[in-house]
Amino acid sequence: MDVAVFGANGRTGRLIVAELARRGHAPLAITRRPVEVAGAAAHRVLDLSDTAAVREAAGGAAISALASSRGNRACSALAEALGPCSGLRLVTVAGAAVDAPGDRKPWPERRFGPLLARLVGEMILDRQREFAILTLAEARWTMLRPPRLTNGAATGRAALSFDRPVSGRVARADLAVAAVDALFDEELVRRAPFVAEARRGGGRPAAATADKALAPRAGSR
Ligand SMILES: NC(=O)c1ccc[n+]([C@@H]2O[C@H](COP(=O)([O-])OP(=O)(O)OC[C@H]3O[C@@H](n4cnc5c(N)ncnc54)[C@H](OP(=O)(O)O)[C@@H]3O)[C@@H](O)[C@H]2O)c1
Repeated sequence: MDVAVFGANGRTGRLIVAELARRGHAPLAITRRPVEVAGAAAHRVLDLSDTAAVREAAGGAAISALASSRGNRACSALAEALGPCSGLRLVTVAGAAVDAPGDRKPWPERRFGPLLARLVGEMILDRQREFAILTLAEARWTMLRPPRLTNGAATGRAALSFDRPVSGRVARADLAVAAVDALFDEELVRRAPFVAEARRGGGRPAAATADKALAPRAGSR
């Protein structure tokens, strides 16, 4: 299957491209400058403000591992461009700091969340904006919300949850696997699960046993 990967040159983006290739898909690596991404079946350099080109590149399936930053609203720009695409299955990698209906985050996060938002404000605000756009979108989206990302090998212990993350970290390698799993999981459409590493011997694996019955579906479509 052809899958467009936005932010394919990023640390998680590269792992997503590799995971798609490993499963026999044809990843299209979309970057903002010419780079080689291992495992990509094709490459395209795109400016996210070119809505027509972004939609054309996304085709029917896309994963975003873009990061926003000060003065760079990459994530909400992509959501704005792709939101109206009713035929599109879209998975976006965001962060646990994004708030969604049904969240029951533990008190330190509720208490320090606003402080964090002030420190890395624009980044989080843009992700929150992205979520708001997606809740009204025609595209069939899933937003993954990982806590702190770590490097290193996959643990196979990433767990999905819908009210709070099961821990404070997840490996980018596990997140990449969860992002590709999510693309093919219809039960995650219009949902924004947390993805975090379950403690050894505890928790539940991501795709198979997450308690999806508890997941609030955002938007009315
Ligand atoms: N770091 C953490 O602990 C943490 C925790 C939770 C969630 N997250 C989120 O997880 C996601 C993946 O994180 P990561 O650390 O793997 O990201 P990363 O390595 O920083 O990669 C982000 C990618 O986004 C691309 N990008 C940024 N602005 C762009 C623009 N305007 N147009 C096109 N491409 C643009 C970058 O392109 P270039 O390669 O050209 O720079 C880069 O490839 C991000 O959304 C991040 O916010 C991170």
